[in-house]
Amino acid sequence: GDVFTFDPGFTSTASCASTITFIDGEKGELLHRGYPIDQLAEKSHFLEVCYLLLYGELPTADQLEDFESRVTNHTMLHEQMTYFYRGFRRDAHPMAIMVGVVGAMSAFYHDSTDISDPWQREVASIRLIAKMPTIAAWAYKYHIGQPFVYPRNDLDYASNFLRMCFSVPAEEYEVNPILSRAMDRIFTLHADHEQNASTSTVRLASSSGANPFACIAAGIACLWGPAHGGANQACLEMLREIGTPDRIPEYIEKAKDKNDPFRLMGFGHRVYKNFDPRAKVMKQSADEVLDLLGVENNPTLQTAKELERIALEDPYFKDKKLYPNVDFYSGIILDAMGFPTSMFTPIFALARTVGWISQWKEQLSDPAHKIGRPRQLYTGATFRDYVDVENR
Ligand code: CMC
Repeated sequence: GDVFTFDPGFTSTASCASTITFIDGEKGELLHRGYPIDQLAEKSHFLEVCYLLLYGELPTADQLEDFESRVTNHTMLHEQMTYFYRGFRRDAHPMAIMVGVVGAMSAFYHDSTDISDPWQREVASIRLIAKMPTIAAWAYKYHIGQPFVYPRNDLDYASNFLRMCFSVPAEEYEVNPILSRAMDRIFTLHADHEQNASTSTVRLASSSGANPFACIAAGIACLWGPAHGGANQACLEMLREIGTPDRIPEYIEKAKDKNDPFRLMGFGHRVYKNFDPRAKVMKQSADEVLDLLGVENNPTLQTAKELERIALEDPYFKDKKLYPNVDFYSGIILDAMGFPTSMFTPIFALARTVGWISQWKEQLSDPAHKIGRPRQLYTGATFRDYVDVENR
């Protein structure tokens, strides 16, 4: 029969050629279109990085202004979408709502579902990037029973998102610039990460010719799992469960025990085997935010810092090259900002949307792209004849 390469988990298979993001796991290097992530996180901002990922170059001042105005033109959600939200149970996880709402966009925006038309592809891209903060913030508002807050287009992307999450009608709300900068940095650090599970899901869904909203909904579904985007929520829940630094050794032992499925959440990475360059910037951001909010004595943070120290010195984690990843610190920042853990993964989804879209656009513009159709190593029964039920 046919001979196939067997590579479960795709640890050594390149699924596509791409010019967007480069990762060197050994060196701990992450480049977007050639620019290192630490420089982008320090000197750039999320919408500029979106432009870079989507179009391949940093924008001129005019290009950036034009791009930002195109994005702000599309921040509103169709008003009928509010009924869609209200159809969910109050205790629905915001990720469940996001999978549904983003998937439903194909039923609301018919002028951006024809993928053969480059203009429609462009409108779909801008719509998704523009609406994702509104979609995520509304999932949160619905979840806590507060009225939806509409987008404010005079605010920058991160400030607008914070305001839609934390303001209530009839009350003044000022966005703290340090928090908005930290929020923007979280978005920037999560913007793209080449062919991870959710991005590969988006590409696979799109390879059949599915519409962009359906493809992004598939990406959101994949991101939800605790081994991927769900790790930031799982990490903070783990830190809270540990509670105080004296209980850390017990959890370290659990993580090392091969008979126990428990893993240290926020540690380890498929590609980064020395350190995660995003975690470095995120750690700095966590310090800034916690200084501002005056929660240096936060027990969760103390536990996090001590866990980091102990795990980095432990031979098990050292030998297996398990380092804190981006989710280890992002959860701490989001918690300090006042987000419930259920919002951590939706925020990751919001930020990763531009990566999904950029990869999707790249795939469609490649004339050689074809439907993704992995084969398998069949290990089941060989040929046998059917036996009538009375003879079994
Ligand atoms: N705690 C304890 N042991 C671990 C951990 C951990 N967090 N991660 C890996 N190991 C061990 C694992 O048991 C295995 O040991 P052995 O060789 O003795 O069987 C070895 O390290 C290699 O692990 P693996 O599962 O083969 O590695 P992988 O590349 O398939 O998994 C991972 C990568 C990220 C899924 C995994 O490290 C993990 O589950 N981490 C915790 C969840 C997490 O923080 N995920 C976020 C990833 S970063 C954000 C994103 O991109 O979504």
